[in-house]
Amino acid sequence: MTRWPEIRQQFSPFLLKMAPRKGKSLLALAAFLSSHRRQAQVGIQKGFLMSQKRITIRTLRQTDADDIHEIMHMPNVLWGTTVLPSKTVDAWRKTVESWVIDENWHVFVAETNGKVVGIISLTVGKGRERHIGDIAMAVHDAYQGQGIGKMLMLTVIDLADNWLNLVRLELDVYADNERAIRLYQHCDFEIEGRKRCDTLRGGNYIDSYIMGRLHPQHPQHPQHPQHMQTHAGYADALTQVFQAHPDSKPESAEPTEPQQ
Ligand SMILES: CC(C)(COP(=O)(O)OP(=O)(O)OC[C@H]1O[C@@H](n2cnc3c(N)ncnc32)[C@H](O)[C@@H]1OP(=O)(O)O)[C@@H](O)C(=O)NCCC(=O)NCCS
Repeated sequence: MTRWPEIRQQFSPFLLKMAPRKGKSLLALAAFLSSHRRQAQVGIQKGFLMSQKRITIRTLRQTDADDIHEIMHMPNVLWGTTVLPSKTVDAWRKTVESWVIDENWHVFVAETNGKVVGIISLTVGKGRERHIGDIAMAVHDAYQGQGIGKMLMLTVIDLADNWLNLVRLELDVYADNERAIRLYQHCDFEIEGRKRCDTLRGGNYIDSYIMGRLHPQHPQHPQHPQHMQTHAGYADALTQVFQAHPDSKPESAEPTEPQQ
Protein backbone atom coordinates (compact mmCIF):
# COMPACT_ATOMS: atom_id res chain seq x y z
CA MET A 1 0.00 0.00 0.00
CA THR A 2 1.36 3.44 -0.87
CA ARG A 3 1.99 5.54 2.22
CA TRP A 4 2.57 9.26 2.51
CA PRO A 5 6.39 9.24 2.61
CA GLU A 6 6.39 7.47 -0.79
CA ILE A 7 3.81 9.91 -2.12
CA ARG A 8 5.87 12.81 -0.78
CA GLN A 9 8.92 11.52 -2.64
CA GLN A 10 6.91 11.40 -5.85
CA PHE A 11 5.74 14.97 -5.31
CA SER A 12 9.16 16.42 -4.73
CA PRO A 13 10.23 16.84 -8.40
CA PHE A 14 7.02 18.74 -9.11
CA LEU A 15 7.33 20.89 -6.01
CA LEU A 16 11.00 21.66 -6.61
CA LYS A 17 10.15 22.78 -10.13
CA MET A 18 7.28 24.92 -8.92
CA ALA A 19 9.21 26.68 -6.17
CA PRO A 20 11.65 28.80 -8.23
CA ARG A 21 8.96 29.64 -10.78
CA LYS A 22 6.73 31.07 -8.10
CA GLY A 23 9.67 32.78 -6.44
CA LYS A 24 9.22 30.80 -3.24
CA SER A 25 12.23 30.35 -1.01
CA LEU A 26 13.50 26.93 -0.02
CA LEU A 27 12.32 27.80 3.47
CA ALA A 28 8.75 28.16 2.23
CA LEU A 29 9.05 24.88 0.35
CA ALA A 30 10.32 23.13 3.47
CA ALA A 31 7.43 24.60 5.47
CA PHE A 32 4.98 23.40 2.81
CA LEU A 33 6.37 19.87 2.87
CA SER A 34 6.55 19.72 6.63
CA SER A 35 2.98 21.00 7.12
CA HIS A 36 1.60 18.45 4.67
CA ARG A 37 3.66 15.62 6.14
CA ARG A 38 2.45 16.58 9.60
CA GLN A 39 -1.14 16.68 8.41
CA ALA A 40 -0.91 13.22 6.87
CA GLN A 41 1.25 11.51 9.48
CA VAL A 42 -0.05 12.99 12.73
CA GLY A 43 -3.61 13.27 11.56
CA ILE A 44 -6.09 15.80 10.34
CA GLN A 45 -7.04 17.94 13.31
CA LYS A 46 -9.93 19.92 11.91
CA GLY A 47 -13.67 19.42 12.34
CA PHE A 48 -14.68 16.15 13.92
CA LEU A 49 -11.49 14.37 12.88
CA MET A 50 -9.67 14.99 16.15
CA SER A 51 -8.18 11.50 16.51
CA GLN A 52 -5.19 10.24 14.53
CA LYS A 53 -6.00 9.65 10.87
CA ARG A 54 -3.74 8.46 8.13
CA ILE A 55 -4.74 9.36 4.59
CA THR A 56 -3.50 6.99 1.92
CA ILE A 57 -3.53 7.94 -1.74
CA ARG A 58 -3.66 4.83 -3.93
CA THR A 59 -5.01 3.65 -7.28
CA LEU A 60 -8.65 2.67 -7.72
CA ARG A 61 -9.84 -0.89 -7.02
CA GLN A 62 -13.03 -2.63 -8.13
CA THR A 63 -13.97 -3.07 -4.46
CA ASP A 64 -14.13 0.74 -4.01
CA ALA A 65 -17.42 1.00 -5.95
CA ASP A 66 -19.75 1.12 -2.93
CA ASP A 67 -17.72 3.88 -1.21
CA ILE A 68 -17.64 5.85 -4.46
CA HIS A 69 -21.42 5.51 -4.78
CA GLU A 70 -21.70 7.01 -1.27
CA ILE A 71 -19.32 9.91 -2.07
CA MET A 72 -21.18 10.72 -5.28
CA HIS A 73 -24.51 10.94 -3.46
CA MET A 74 -23.35 13.50 -0.89
CA PRO A 75 -25.27 16.82 -1.23
CA ASN A 76 -22.14 18.96 -1.82
CA VAL A 77 -20.78 16.50 -4.36
CA LEU A 78 -24.09 16.45 -6.27
CA TRP A 79 -24.01 20.26 -6.10
CA GLY A 80 -20.48 20.48 -7.56
CA THR A 81 -20.51 17.72 -10.20
CA THR A 82 -22.62 16.54 -13.12
CA VAL A 83 -23.57 13.27 -11.40
CA LEU A 84 -27.27 12.42 -11.32
CA PRO A 85 -28.74 11.58 -7.89
CA SER A 86 -30.52 8.58 -9.45
CA LYS A 87 -27.34 6.73 -10.47
CA THR A 88 -27.53 3.31 -8.81
CA VAL A 89 -24.82 1.40 -6.99
CA ASP A 90 -24.90 -1.23 -9.77
CA ALA A 91 -24.30 1.49 -12.36
CA TRP A 92 -21.38 2.75 -10.25
CA ARG A 93 -19.92 -0.78 -10.10
CA LYS A 94 -19.95 -0.92 -13.91
CA THR A 95 -18.41 2.56 -14.16
CA VAL A 96 -15.64 1.64 -11.71
CA GLU A 97 -15.00 -1.63 -13.58
CA SER A 98 -14.56 0.28 -16.84
CA TRP A 99 -12.19 2.80 -15.19
CA VAL A 100 -10.08 0.07 -13.62
CA ILE A 101 -9.36 -1.66 -16.97
CA ASP A 102 -9.10 1.38 -19.28
CA GLU A 103 -5.43 2.39 -19.60
CA ASN A 104 -6.39 5.96 -20.52
CA TRP A 105 -8.15 6.40 -17.19
CA HIS A 106 -5.83 7.07 -14.25
CA VAL A 107 -7.92 7.08 -11.09
CA PHE A 108 -6.66 7.62 -7.53
CA VAL A 109 -8.58 7.49 -4.28
CA ALA A 110 -7.95 8.82 -0.78
CA GLU A 111 -8.53 6.19 1.87
CA THR A 112 -8.74 6.46 5.64
CA ASN A 113 -9.52 3.62 8.06
CA GLY A 114 -10.35 1.34 5.12
CA LYS A 115 -12.91 3.78 3.70
CA VAL A 116 -12.54 5.67 0.43
CA VAL A 117 -13.32 9.36 1.06
CA GLY A 118 -12.05 11.05 -2.10
CA ILE A 119 -11.50 10.31 -5.77
CA ILE A 120 -9.77 11.96 -8.73
CA SER A 121 -9.60 10.89 -12.36
CA LEU A 122 -7.18 11.89 -15.09
CA THR A 123 -8.38 10.84 -18.54
CA VAL A 124 -5.80 11.01 -21.33
CA GLY A 125 -7.11 12.09 -24.74
CA LYS A 126 -6.85 10.02 -27.91
CA GLY A 127 -5.33 10.72 -31.33
CA ARG A 128 -4.44 14.39 -31.72
CA GLU A 129 -5.54 15.04 -28.14
CA ARG A 130 -3.11 12.50 -26.69
CA HIS A 131 -1.26 15.39 -25.01
CA ILE A 132 -4.32 16.46 -22.97
CA GLY A 133 -5.50 15.18 -19.62
CA ASP A 134 -9.02 15.85 -18.37
CA ILE A 135 -9.53 15.96 -14.61
CA ALA A 136 -12.57 15.36 -12.41
CA MET A 137 -12.64 14.97 -8.63
CA ALA A 138 -14.79 14.73 -5.50
CA VAL A 139 -14.24 14.46 -1.76
CA HIS A 140 -16.87 13.07 0.65
CA ASP A 141 -18.81 15.92 2.30
CA ALA A 142 -17.60 14.98 5.79
CA TYR A 143 -13.93 15.19 4.72
CA GLN A 144 -13.92 18.39 2.65
CA GLY A 145 -11.73 21.41 3.48
CA GLN A 146 -9.05 19.25 5.13
CA GLY A 147 -6.41 19.05 2.41
CA ILE A 148 -7.52 15.78 0.78
CA GLY A 149 -8.51 17.45 -2.49
CA LYS A 150 -5.10 19.10 -2.74
CA MET A 151 -3.28 15.79 -2.08
CA LEU A 152 -5.31 14.11 -4.83
CA MET A 153 -4.67 16.97 -7.25
CA LEU A 154 -0.89 16.97 -6.59
CA THR A 155 -0.88 13.23 -7.25
CA VAL A 156 -2.35 13.54 -10.75
CA ILE A 157 -0.25 16.62 -11.57
CA ASP A 158 2.87 14.62 -10.71
CA LEU A 159 1.63 11.74 -12.89
CA ALA A 160 0.82 14.11 -15.76
CA ASP A 161 4.06 16.13 -15.60
CA ASN A 162 6.64 13.51 -14.70
CA TRP A 163 5.27 10.16 -15.88
CA LEU A 164 2.93 10.85 -18.81
CA ASN A 165 4.52 14.14 -19.98
CA LEU A 166 1.13 15.67 -20.80
CA VAL A 167 1.23 19.17 -22.27
CA ARG A 168 -2.16 20.32 -21.06
CA LEU A 169 -4.46 19.57 -18.15
CA GLU A 170 -8.03 20.80 -18.28
CA LEU A 171 -11.27 20.64 -16.33
CA ASP A 172 -14.72 22.21 -16.08
CA VAL A 173 -15.89 23.78 -12.84
CA TYR A 174 -19.12 25.56 -11.96
CA ALA A 175 -18.59 29.32 -11.77
CA ASP A 176 -19.95 29.45 -8.19
CA ASN A 177 -17.76 26.59 -6.86
CA GLU A 178 -15.30 28.85 -5.02
CA ARG A 179 -13.55 26.08 -3.07
CA ALA A 180 -12.79 24.06 -6.18
CA ILE A 181 -11.69 27.14 -8.18
CA ARG A 182 -9.34 28.19 -5.35
CA LEU A 183 -7.83 24.71 -5.22
CA TYR A 184 -7.26 24.65 -9.00
CA GLN A 185 -5.75 28.15 -9.01
CA HIS A 186 -3.35 27.10 -6.24
CA CYS A 187 -2.26 24.30 -8.58
CA ASP A 188 -1.58 26.73 -11.49
CA PHE A 189 -4.81 26.24 -13.43
CA GLU A 190 -6.14 29.38 -15.10
CA ILE A 191 -9.68 30.30 -16.07
CA GLU A 192 -9.76 30.17 -19.90
CA GLY A 193 -13.43 30.69 -20.65
CA ARG A 194 -17.00 30.63 -19.47
CA LYS A 195 -19.72 28.28 -20.69
CA ARG A 196 -23.13 29.86 -20.14
CA CYS A 197 -26.09 27.70 -19.01
CA ASP A 198 -23.78 24.69 -19.05
CA THR A 199 -25.63 22.43 -16.61
CA LEU A 200 -29.01 22.06 -14.95
CA ARG A 201 -28.73 22.01 -11.16
CA GLY A 202 -31.81 21.86 -8.95
CA GLY A 203 -33.96 23.52 -11.60
CA ASN A 204 -31.50 26.29 -12.57
CA TYR A 205 -29.07 26.48 -15.47
CA ILE A 206 -25.62 27.40 -14.21
CA ASP A 207 -22.43 28.61 -15.88
CA SER A 208 -19.11 26.77 -15.88
CA TYR A 209 -15.51 27.85 -16.28
CA ILE A 210 -13.06 25.99 -18.46
CA MET A 211 -9.76 25.89 -16.58
CA GLY A 212 -6.42 24.80 -18.06
CA ARG A 213 -2.80 24.33 -17.04
CA LEU A 214 0.19 23.85 -19.36
CA HIS A 215 3.19 21.72 -18.42
CA PRO A 216 5.62 24.27 -16.92
CA GLN A 217 8.55 23.06 -19.04
CA HIS A 218 6.78 22.66 -22.38
CA PRO A 219 8.05 24.82 -25.31
CA GLN A 220 4.47 25.84 -26.17
CA HIS A 221 4.16 27.53 -22.80
CA PRO A 222 3.73 31.25 -23.59
CA GLN A 223 6.70 32.22 -21.43
CA HIS A 224 9.04 29.60 -22.85
CA PRO A 225 11.85 31.19 -24.95
CA GLN A 226 11.52 28.55 -27.68
CA HIS A 227 7.89 29.40 -28.30
CA MET A 228 8.43 31.78 -31.23
CA GLN A 229 11.26 29.72 -32.74
CA THR A 230 9.02 26.68 -32.92
CA HIS A 231 6.43 28.53 -34.98
CA ALA A 232 9.02 30.25 -37.21
CA GLY A 233 10.60 26.86 -37.93
CA TYR A 234 7.26 25.38 -38.92
CA ALA A 235 6.42 28.33 -41.23
CA ASP A 236 9.87 28.15 -42.85
CA ALA A 237 9.47 24.46 -43.45
CA LEU A 238 6.10 24.99 -45.17
CA THR A 239 7.55 27.76 -47.39
CA GLN A 240 10.34 25.46 -48.48
CA VAL A 241 7.82 22.76 -49.39
CA PHE A 242 5.88 25.19 -51.60
CA GLN A 243 9.06 26.50 -53.25
CA ALA A 244 10.28 22.99 -54.00
CA HIS A 245 6.90 21.96 -55.43
CA PRO A 246 5.28 24.95 -57.21
CA ASP A 247 2.35 22.76 -58.33
CA SER A 248 1.34 22.30 -54.73
CA LYS A 249 0.51 26.00 -54.21
CA PRO A 250 -2.99 26.60 -52.90
CA GLU A 251 -5.54 27.29 -55.71
CA SER A 252 -6.31 30.74 -54.36
CA ALA A 253 -2.63 31.81 -54.55
CA GLU A 254 -2.58 32.60 -58.32
CA PRO A 255 -5.46 32.40 -60.80
CA THR A 256 -4.66 30.01 -63.69
CA GLU A 257 -5.60 30.50 -67.36
CA PRO A 258 -8.41 28.21 -68.48
CA GLN A 259 -7.07 25.47 -70.79
CA GLN A 260 -8.18 25.38 -74.47
C1 LIG B 1 -13.72 20.75 -4.54
C2 LIG B 1 -13.14 19.64 -3.67
C3 LIG B 1 -12.72 18.47 -4.56
C4 LIG B 1 -11.92 20.19 -2.94
O1 LIG B 1 -11.42 19.19 -2.09
P1 LIG B 1 -11.16 19.53 -0.56
O2 LIG B 1 -10.54 18.34 0.07
O3 LIG B 1 -12.42 20.02 0.04
O4 LIG B 1 -10.11 20.74 -0.68
P2 LIG B 1 -8.83 21.01 0.22
O5 LIG B 1 -9.18 20.83 1.66
O6 LIG B 1 -7.71 20.21 -0.30
O7 LIG B 1 -8.59 22.54 -0.04
C5 LIG B 1 -7.91 22.94 -1.17
C6 LIG B 1 -8.01 24.42 -1.28
O8 LIG B 1 -9.37 24.79 -1.40
C7 LIG B 1 -9.57 26.03 -0.74
N1 LIG B 1 -10.62 25.88 0.24
C8 LIG B 1 -10.74 24.94 1.20
N2 LIG B 1 -11.89 25.14 1.88
C9 LIG B 1 -12.47 26.23 1.37
C10 LIG B 1 -13.66 26.94 1.62
N3 LIG B 1 -14.51 26.57 2.60
N4 LIG B 1 -13.96 28.02 0.84
C11 LIG B 1 -13.14 28.40 -0.15
N5 LIG B 1 -11.98 27.76 -0.46
C12 LIG B 1 -11.65 26.69 0.30
C13 LIG B 1 -8.30 26.41 -0.10
O9 LIG B 1 -7.67 27.36 -0.95
C14 LIG B 1 -7.50 25.16 -0.07
O10 LIG B 1 -6.16 25.39 -0.23
P3 LIG B 1 -5.27 25.92 1.04
O11 LIG B 1 -5.54 24.97 2.15
O12 LIG B 1 -3.87 25.88 0.54
O13 LIG B 1 -5.76 27.30 1.34
C15 LIG B 1 -14.19 19.15 -2.63
O14 LIG B 1 -14.54 20.22 -1.80
C16 LIG B 1 -15.43 18.54 -3.26
O15 LIG B 1 -15.45 17.36 -3.56
N6 LIG B 1 -16.51 19.33 -3.46
C17 LIG B 1 -17.75 18.81 -3.99
C18 LIG B 1 -17.60 18.23 -5.40
C19 LIG B 1 -16.91 19.21 -6.30
O16 LIG B 1 -17.19 20.39 -6.27
N7 LIG B 1 -16.00 18.68 -7.13
C20 LIG B 1 -15.23 19.49 -8.04
C21 LIG B 1 -15.89 19.48 -9.38
S1 LIG B 1 -15.02 20.56 -10.50
